Amino acid sequence: MPIREMKESDLPRVLEIQQELAFQDWDAPLFATKIHANYALCVVYETDSDQGTPQINGYAVFHLLGSDSELLSIAVSRDCQHKGIGKMLLDAGLSRLSPEEKDRCFLEVREGNSTARKFYEKNGFKLYGDRKNYYSDGENACLYSIELESQIN
Ligand SMILES: CC(C)(COP(=O)(O)OP(=O)(O)OC[C@H]1O[C@@H](n2cnc3c(N)ncnc32)[C@H](O)[C@@H]1OP(=O)(O)O)[C@@H](O)C(=O)NCCC(=O)NCCS
Repeated sequence: MPIREMKESDLPRVLEIQQELAFQDWDAPLFATKIHANYALCVVYETDSDQGTPQINGYAVFHLLGSDSELLSIAVSRDCQHKGIGKMLLDAGLSRLSPEEKDRCFLEVREGNSTARKFYEKNGFKLYGDRKNYYSDGENACLYSIELESQIN
């Protein structure tokens, strides 16, 4: 599977994907903090481009919260979406968790982000609540979680 841990040298392309999708505004130092933190897991999806040079087309960032984890960010560049890369990033990230970290995974997503919500629901996440006016523009957050014990072994 063309998924590996994120490196600082990946950040220009990671930031480019984030900017293309305009769904989050993390800066390079914030990503770098996550890359080096022992409480975070950052992965990228990398394939050879047509020219044969490696190209990153997606990434995911998880926080490790003891027996639980949180998916903080997942993104796939627009022209590579709907090919199963998002699912690969999700599965690869969750499968890298140690057995002690595999109780549940949580995430929050904008109420209006129907593509991401459908993606999470299709991959087993269940809606368990919301946070009103959570985002700076007043949009609500939807809260999802997945029980992992039955999903990954
Ligand atoms: C959410 C996101 C990461 C999903 O990535 P993705 O790579 O498109 O995800 P997948 O390809 O695994 O699944 C998406 C859809 O493609 C379909 N699909 C998967 N493989 C496929 C294939 N080979 N051929 C056709 N369709 C396929 C899936 O069944 C799924 O279908 P759905 O539209 O019915 O849900 C992506 O939409 C994204 O980057 N969004 C912008 C950023 C964002 O909002 N992130 C979440 C908030 S942090």
